[in-house]
Amino acid sequence: MKPEEIKKVVREGYGRIAKTSGPCCPPTSSCCGSSRPDDVSKTIGYSDEELSSVPEGANLGLGCGNPVALASLKKGETVLDLGSGPGFDCFLAANKVGKEGKVIGVDMTPDMLDRARENAKKGNYTNVEFRLGEIENLPAADNSVDAIISNCVINLAPDKRQVFKEAHRVLRSGGRLMVSDLVLTKELPDALKGSVEGYLGCISGAILKEAYLRDIKEAGFREVRIVDESHYLELLSDPGVSEFIEKFNIPQDVLKEIAKSIVSIKVQGIK
Ligand SMILES: C[S@@+](CC[C@H](N)C(=O)[O-])C[C@H]1O[C@@H](n2cnc3c(N)ncnc32)[C@H](O)[C@@H]1O
Repeated sequence: MKPEEIKKVVREGYGRIAKTSGPCCPPTSSCCGSSRPDDVSKTIGYSDEELSSVPEGANLGLGCGNPVALASLKKGETVLDLGSGPGFDCFLAANKVGKEGKVIGVDMTPDMLDRARENAKKGNYTNVEFRLGEIENLPAADNSVDAIISNCVINLAPDKRQVFKEAHRVLRSGGRLMVSDLVLTKELPDALKGSVEGYLGCISGAILKEAYLRDIKEAGFREVRIVDESHYLELLSDPGVSEFIEKFNIPQDVLKEIAKSIVSIKVQGIK
């Protein structure tokens, strides 16, 4: 698929999710979509306290880690969330930076933005703003942000180098990049790489871990390191994901190998 086709598929897919999913009706085709969103989020590192501190419907279980926990945010800081979806991590970050701080969520799917803005209104958040835009061309000024977070989004972007370049541009000197994402330890079979459903499931767009880290370093970040890494076998129990994998008639043992090659990482870098 060409980059523009990928973006169209991703935008349409997440638009559908924004319109149809909720706390009791989880998304059917997305990164972590088979279980109740809060259950998914607990398995990837969110606490009960965090889950109950955001407006209902802000968490659709679309993440694959907890970058806010990692970001050690301080009062008064400005934070940018790449691919903010319904706003879950933005609201958690907003609670940390307080009224004197600011959180900006960027997402390219208008229905997700509508949903995030409704959630902000519901929770009376005055320090969170959602902007329509692509993470490859961030709607933010140079050197204007203290920390960038992102949760299971950059794998969906066809040009990851450009995403990290943009992240570097908008961060102030000394600013932090804190990202949770899915990467590969081994290349996927070609058929899966081109699959539309695989993109929405955050698999087909994932790249090798070394390439991902190299892209971050080449964008100019220093002290780039993986803070945490775990296998992401839950992905196979997702109905959307298993359905598309079955479509390719892959034997169980090969399937297990594929699942083992998909890892969830938390990675950080400094500008
Ligand atoms: C898997 S969801 C994650 C949402 C959110 N980070 C969370 O954890 O709830 C991916 C989100 O990224 C957005 N997205 C994907 N590719 C994007 C791009 N290139 N530019 C901006 N947003 C993008 C989608 O619209 C969707 O809302």
